[in-house]
Amino acid sequence: MMVLGKLAGMVLHQLRNPLNIMKTSLYYVISSYSDKMDERMKKHLEMIEKAVDSSDKLIEDILGFARPREPVLENVDINHVARTALADILVPPGTTLETEFSEDLPAIQADPLLLIQMFKNITINAIEAMKGVGTIRIGTRLKEGWIEVSFNDNGPGIGEDMLPRIFEPLFSTKSRGTGLGLSLCRLIVYKHEGEITVRSRKGYGTIFIILLPLAVRASTGGNNDG
Ligand SMILES: Nc1ncnc2c1ncn2[C@@H]1O[C@H](COP(=O)(O)OP(=O)(O)OP(=O)(O)O)[C@@H](O)[C@H]1O
Ligand SMILES: [Mg+2]
Repeated sequence: MMVLGKLAGMVLHQLRNPLNIMKTSLYYVISSYSDKMDERMKKHLEMIEKAVDSSDKLIEDILGFARPREPVLENVDINHVARTALADILVPPGTTLETEFSEDLPAIQADPLLLIQMFKNITINAIEAMKGVGTIRIGTRLKEGWIEVSFNDNGPGIGEDMLPRIFEPLFSTKSRGTGLGLSLCRLIVYKHEGEITVRSRKGYGTIFIILLPLAVRASTGGNNDG
């Protein structure tokens, strides 16, 4: 099992290189030639872009889950992290992403790459849940020594029977979901000594709230004995 796990990890790591090349080349082709392309061609390139993105997310989630790494802490501007993550997400035309960022927030000690992964997973879930129509509001603010990040969508909501299970690894209601996204988000938040909660009402929408401490007690890359 250990050899298989190691092999799977190596293969997944190797697959990221060609995916990144495809992503960069796609970006180049789309931004340089979009005025010379007909609608059908654009549609096909969008399909490739979506497929590359979801493969990349899958690899990132599996690696993050199977080989969780300790956060490498640095001073982080949460709004900058949020903007970086959101810029990398394909938003369907009927979906609106609104941001309400408090300015002048203090820097927090965090691992920006892990936080980007968390922002992307929760936002993509909301986009997928709304099936192309709706609004997601993402906010940041200072709250009693913590930074609070909220994700508020007006999608279909989550039933009471499902709600306690959504953070379980491999729990998914999607035909092509792996169910790793939220369990990974929770792991990332816990590794930052933060808290994650969810409130949802069927038919009205869902809110995820994350509290991150300004400073993490555990030392960089070291033993997490807190
Ligand atoms: N904003 C949301 N609105 C409604 N349901 C949600 C929302 N976010 C999560 N869910 C529910 O929680 C489940 C678990 O989410 P999670 O991100 O862990 O897995 P997934 O999205 O199904 O698969 P993936 O591994 O591709 O992320 C989803 O399948 C969905 O049913
Ligand atoms: Mg998900």
